[in-house]
Amino acid sequence: MTRAQVLEVVGDDRDEQTLVAAIDFSRLPRHVAVIMDGNGRWARSRHLPRLEGHRAGVESVRSVVETAARLGLQALTVYAFSTENWKRPTDEVSGLMGLLKLYIRRELKTLRANNIKFGVVGGLDGLPKDVRDELRRGIHETSKLSGLQFSLALNYSGRSELTDVARRLAIEARAGTIDPMDIDEKAIERRLFTAHLPEPDLLIRTSGELRVSNFLLWQIAYAEIWVTDVLWPDFRRRHLLQAIVDFQKRERRYGGITASAGKA
Ligand code: IPE
Ligand code: IPE
Ligand code: MG
Repeated sequence: MTRAQVLEVVGDDRDEQTLVAAIDFSRLPRHVAVIMDGNGRWARSRHLPRLEGHRAGVESVRSVVETAARLGLQALTVYAFSTENWKRPTDEVSGLMGLLKLYIRRELKTLRANNIKFGVVGGLDGLPKDVRDELRRGIHETSKLSGLQFSLALNYSGRSELTDVARRLAIEARAGTIDPMDIDEKAIERRLFTAHLPEPDLLIRTSGELRVSNFLLWQIAYAEIWVTDVLWPDFRRRHLLQAIVDFQKRERRYGGITASAGKA
């Protein structure tokens, strides 16, 4: 990478330049998935309402989307609202929905300017109509773009996604349009929300929790997991760069053995 290209990704921050220089651009993760966590704790530590943590978290989303696009990643999917999050107090839920709407309204121009194709992973129909309309507008107005595929996982849960696939396959089998013996992994993958995306290579979770919380259960079968104690509102470009540098040091074996072990 030339110095000019590095600067294009990170500007003049020396630590970030060092990180970018350490990245092998021929082996980038194709798809990065992020469980954004810790907004509430970030707010609590500042004696602020939880919603302020979510508001601050929007800045982190901006920073990560921009960095992913500049790096040339193919896909970025961030977990913004799980089907279990409906259990939260109504004012927090409605506050989050309001932020979502605002985010699309404010960011759509930037997404388009950066050739970013926006999408939603999850039950769009279960969201309030005004939010759904805004999201649909975002999807529609970026549908022809060919750069980073940026998806928000909303009203999403891995189990409900898989349950839905099972139901649809059963309906198709009953209708005679699919033979149960033809149901293979590809048949399932084609029916997932992420059918158009490569499998996540790297799964990031912030705020130190060591769990996947029902996120992309099928898709992360072989993802490399990277956890940081950083709370989501504090997550910035350098953290994503660090995750990619660390990812590139891992050896992915997919159940096989290492090349060197094979020779031994
Ligand atoms: C993540 O932050 C955002 C959402 C789940 C919507 P949290 O709101 O879960 O923050 P903590 O885990 O309570 O700190
Ligand atoms: C995971 O965070 C879901 C999202 C980031 C939207 P949660 O805070 O909801 O997950 P748990 O409750 O810690 O498992
Ligand atoms: Mg949480």
